[in-house]
Amino acid sequence: MKPCKVILIALVQVSLLATPAVMATADQPTGGTTTLNSPDDSHMEWWRDARFGMFIHWGLYSVQGGDWKGKDYGKEQGGASAEWLMNSAKIPGPEYRKALAPQFNPTDFDAAEWVSTAKEAGMKYVVITSKHHDGFCLFDTEATDYNVMDATPFKRDIIKELSEECAKQGLKFGVYYSQFKDWYHRSFQRKPGTLNNEEYLDLVEKNLDELLSNYGDMAVLWFDVGGNNVIEADQQGARVRELQPNAVICSRLYSRKVPEGKRKYADFESLPDRMLPTERMTQDTETCMTMRHNWGYDRNDDHWKSSKDIIEFLALCGARGVNLLLNVGPNPEGNLLPEETERLQEVGQWMKTNGESIYGTSYSPVDFDFWWGAMTQKDQTVYLHVLESKPEGIEFNGIVGKPAKAYFLADPARKDLPVTYDASGHVTKIEVPANAPDPRDTVIAVEYDAPVVTDSDAKGKYHWYTSRSRRHTEIRKRANAGKHALPEAVTGK
Ligand code: GLC
Repeated sequence: MKPCKVILIALVQVSLLATPAVMATADQPTGGTTTLNSPDDSHMEWWRDARFGMFIHWGLYSVQGGDWKGKDYGKEQGGASAEWLMNSAKIPGPEYRKALAPQFNPTDFDAAEWVSTAKEAGMKYVVITSKHHDGFCLFDTEATDYNVMDATPFKRDIIKELSEECAKQGLKFGVYYSQFKDWYHRSFQRKPGTLNNEEYLDLVEKNLDELLSNYGDMAVLWFDVGGNNVIEADQQGARVRELQPNAVICSRLYSRKVPEGKRKYADFESLPDRMLPTERMTQDTETCMTMRHNWGYDRNDDHWKSSKDIIEFLALCGARGVNLLLNVGPNPEGNLLPEETERLQEVGQWMKTNGESIYGTSYSPVDFDFWWGAMTQKDQTVYLHVLESKPEGIEFNGIVGKPAKAYFLADPARKDLPVTYDASGHVTKIEVPANAPDPRDTVIAVEYDAPVVTDSDAKGKYHWYTSRSRRHTEIRKRANAGKHALPEAVTGK
């Protein structure tokens, strides 16, 4: 496998944070992506088709909502995200546990409601934080008493309830697991945790065995903040393959410093947080995005993205061959926030009409996008995601031949839209009324009666999310976007 530029960029990001992500593109006629490493990638098929999942950050940190002793440590204050409270406020493990665990009693928690909200939004998989960096386990475990059954009044296995509900409602279920960073058991602020390194690795092994054996089909293992010890990571990856051969493993099993070729068990590349590649991804790749600043629940963070931004982001992820894992941070009572369900419902409505332009599609047939938006493709149909329109309609180059048919996906009658084709530049023009049916993203299906052929001489550039600052300030300029989450890259802190 040709080493791609991913590693280089990630390294830069870790040090400078301001560097935008630029990814390699290898023209792939069919637009299909490949797995990072495992030769047999049949277990990736559902994941590639899914394109859209729910990320859930929930745990003891949700009790505080970013605050500690009257000070707000949330990301909107410029610091780390709310789930990093223990570290941001330098709270020793025993104090953090003593203060928060007795308060963790989310009696409103209803797995069926969370899963149906994800399903209604058009999401195909759910990934929840089973153990985050603070070391607290949201499942029943023999490895430590620092878990929801033994340390809190709640005494319900959250992973059990959610995994069963996902199975019931036909969504794939996975867990986020912080395997390397554990501020309670392993080390915190350069001081040892409750266990020595060997004991800690035992805990991880027991935890993985429990998560991989006690909760049915575990479809995704979303490890986070990998270490540089490849042997340690490989042992954990091998355990997953052994107990759940179909599980899809996140590249964060390894640190970004580990060369790609050495990441034996990584199935997909997990981009740095909230990042959209500025080119097509030829390998299985996922980005995760917050709806506001913080991943974990935060009391004061009102930097909500609009539904337009989320739908636009989803379309651009599809156009660049990337899955989107969209985050929710439920409150300590166990509820999704109204702002979250509202946006998920809107995305769900859009997906009901336009889902075929996302699910099971491959990235854009042309290696650029347009002032009006971008493309996804499935077989002989190219989907135009019109994110902005002008009275004179839209046009695109790069595809050879006149389409057989073009219509709005939102039009049940699929009435033909007027199309003209100029063979000299291979330019196709489509008349689109200035007020396109859906200002968030109007999808036009362009059908060809032969396999799609691209013009290798075609010239074009990327217009959307091309640079970190621009892609965020651009969001800001949009009237209905309101105040927005500005990832660290923009603040540069
Ligand atoms: C980063 C943050 C972590 C968050 C994760 C989500 O690793 O440290 O808190 O859970 O990103 O992608």
